Amino acid sequence: MKKVLIDCDPGIDDALALALAAGCADSLDIVGVTTVGGNVDLEFTTANALALREFLQMGDVPVTPGSAGALLRRTVRATAVHGDTGLGDVVLPAPRLGPSEGHAVDFIVETLKAAPGEITLVAVGPLSNIALAVRREPRIVQWARDLVIMGGSYTRGNHNPAAEFNMLADPEAAAIVFEAGWTVTMLGLDVTLRATLTSDVLERMRPLGRLADLLVPAAQFYGVVTAEGGPAIHDACAVAYVLDPGLFTCVPAVVNVETMGEFTRGMTVTDFRLRDRRANALVATAVDVPAFWDLVIGAYEKLATR
Ligand code: BDR
Ligand code: CA
Repeated sequence: MKKVLIDCDPGIDDALALALAAGCADSLDIVGVTTVGGNVDLEFTTANALALREFLQMGDVPVTPGSAGALLRRTVRATAVHGDTGLGDVVLPAPRLGPSEGHAVDFIVETLKAAPGEITLVAVGPLSNIALAVRREPRIVQWARDLVIMGGSYTRGNHNPAAEFNMLADPEAAAIVFEAGWTVTMLGLDVTLRATLTSDVLERMRPLGRLADLLVPAAQFYGVVTAEGGPAIHDACAVAYVLDPGLFTCVPAVVNVETMGEFTRGMTVTDFRLRDRRANALVATAVDVPAFWDLVIGAYEKLATR
């Protein structure tokens, strides 16, 4: 059983990633969900995580809110992509349970400290919470079994030509995280944009009962679904990597996050030529798309019949 702590900003693809994790409860132990301001304000990312915990039958997994904004920068949101409240036009039943006491940064530090070497951190939003946790307790770098992020790219951006959204939303946090001394597994746009949700995939979601009431409208809000293409469910790639790393090809690299550039802030400058340097990242360069969707849909089917 792999243990994961998921730091997220739901967010449509965050929601679909949580559903993937929830559907794999037989092989994945979700020890906590922490929220960060990102796609929408923290108030909404937390409310969505709470609603998803119950809708996805995640039991009593603690949901702990964290940082509302970037360490230094003005707030950047992605409401044009995820809607004003973060889940497009999906309205989930109001959750009965509230968030845990305390702050995500303390939760991350204490949870990793209690189980050194056991827990994989999966971060699929801006890296504000993870950076603050590194600063508060640098030993989390040793305590975490792994850090897997959705973010960055070595070829392009999506928020602008240079920067991927999670990196642009808090570039200083991303720089702290990449410089912390661990090896960051980076599932960036280079792979996530290949695993698009086509109409074939959507048809496999439609029969999934009440789960389909989340998946189908969320996917359609997220992008135009056709036989050839559709929206990329970025964050699900990070969870899929934890479940089955063999779905992805990953290459060691040195990744530096640009924090000063006028036009390139948030760019993940990726050098695959290590020379004598230690790689600070394992960068995903390829994904087996059919196998990825088989994993995702298989998990959703398990969840729908639970
Ligand atoms: C990333 O940015 C967010 O909008 C998504 O949730 C994902 O984490 C993709 O660039
Ligand atoms: Ca996200």
